[in-house]
Amino acid sequence: MISFKNVTKKYPGMVRPAVEDLSLEIPEGEICVFVGPSGCGKTTTLKMINRIFEPTAGEIFVNGRSVTEQNADTLRQGIGYVIQKTGLFPHYTVYENVATVPRLLGWEEDRTQERVRHLLELVGLDPEENWFKFPRELSGGQGQRVGVARAMAADPPVMLMDEPFGAVDPITRTQLQHEFLNLQRKVQKTICFVTHDIDEAIKMGDRIAIMENGRLVQFDTPENLLLAPANEFVGDFIGSDRSLKVLNLLPVQKVLKRQFRTIRDDADLTDVRSSFADTKRNRVIVENESGTVAGYITREDADRATSARGWNRFIKPFPAGVPMEATLHDALAAMLRYDIGAVPVMDTSRSFRGMVYLDDIRSYVGEAYQEYENGPNGAAS
Ligand SMILES: Nc1ncnc2c1ncn2[C@@H]1O[C@H](COP(=O)(O)OP(=O)(O)O)[C@@H](O)[C@H]1O
Ligand SMILES: [Mg+2]
Repeated sequence: MISFKNVTKKYPGMVRPAVEDLSLEIPEGEICVFVGPSGCGKTTTLKMINRIFEPTAGEIFVNGRSVTEQNADTLRQGIGYVIQKTGLFPHYTVYENVATVPRLLGWEEDRTQERVRHLLELVGLDPEENWFKFPRELSGGQGQRVGVARAMAADPPVMLMDEPFGAVDPITRTQLQHEFLNLQRKVQKTICFVTHDIDEAIKMGDRIAIMENGRLVQFDTPENLLLAPANEFVGDFIGSDRSLKVLNLLPVQKVLKRQFRTIRDDADLTDVRSSFADTKRNRVIVENESGTVAGYITREDADRATSARGWNRFIKPFPAGVPMEATLHDALAAMLRYDIGAVPVMDTSRSFRGMVYLDDIRSYVGEAYQEYENGPNGAAS
């Protein structure tokens, strides 16, 4: 969808190029995050896509067409652009700001209004409340939301976002990141996202391009980047807590144990005992009538119980559980919080889907590193 072919940008008077021999491809519908220290060439890279700057050498293709062969205005109408301090026009209202491109395109006023209303709702702003406000009357987070809405006004297939959440406080930033990822799930734009924050890159990126002094040093999925940094620069940039960060990316399903005996809480004691008969496991999961997890019973307690139904009082509830979408980070956090070695995984109707064990998380992450270290890209090779 967007591809760079040996792109170099050298500003007049500069000794070294700001961007040097950059080649990469960004698939349609994905978020590619450009990350690296200040001055490494991220903004320059972005601004060559919508032709604010022209490459000194090489070519950039959007949708298979070289950008330099297109009329710059037409090109930009298909590319939404969001920048750090929002770049909102201070003398325009929220409505006028978001309506900028539709008005340029000569849309009917009704259609424009409808579109602006829809977009404001999409980015979590009440249209009635904000319609006539000026940028100075908005908080940082609200301003960024308007910036995103404005960039999406004509529904461009491509979005360029240059440190879009850089100027807001950490809590608002986290919120904006989440909202934007939810929005992206619906709109599926092809996005180039610039940040200097590696955690933001890991959270937002389907793929991450790490840059150093104008050169691309690694282009990979967040998972691969964390497991197998290409060199010391990348390793240092990611930080020594990369094994903790990678937990955020791995879904619990990677280590989910699904084979479990379950028994209904209205079963007879003989059934409870026989569910332990041909297994070495010491616990059986207990579900209630509707299939939700009630807890578990141990072999010892099943032996200790005496009456047919009285075994019920031995059911031990799980102190914590995580949903199917949880990450290993979530599971580990629950284990540490409740001082337990395993957590049940439940689907949205709280039905039991399996267990995640601390030991399995440990060995999974350990093996993943080993695999990379022994592999072709590994540090040991
Ligand atoms: N318009 C410009 N004219 C000359 N040099 C520039 C211009 N814009 C950026 N640079 C230089 O190019 C390099 C890369 O800058 P930039 O792309 O803005 O980096 P980043 O966005 O990663 O901080 C820096 O050395 C910067 O000083
Ligand atoms: Mg920049």
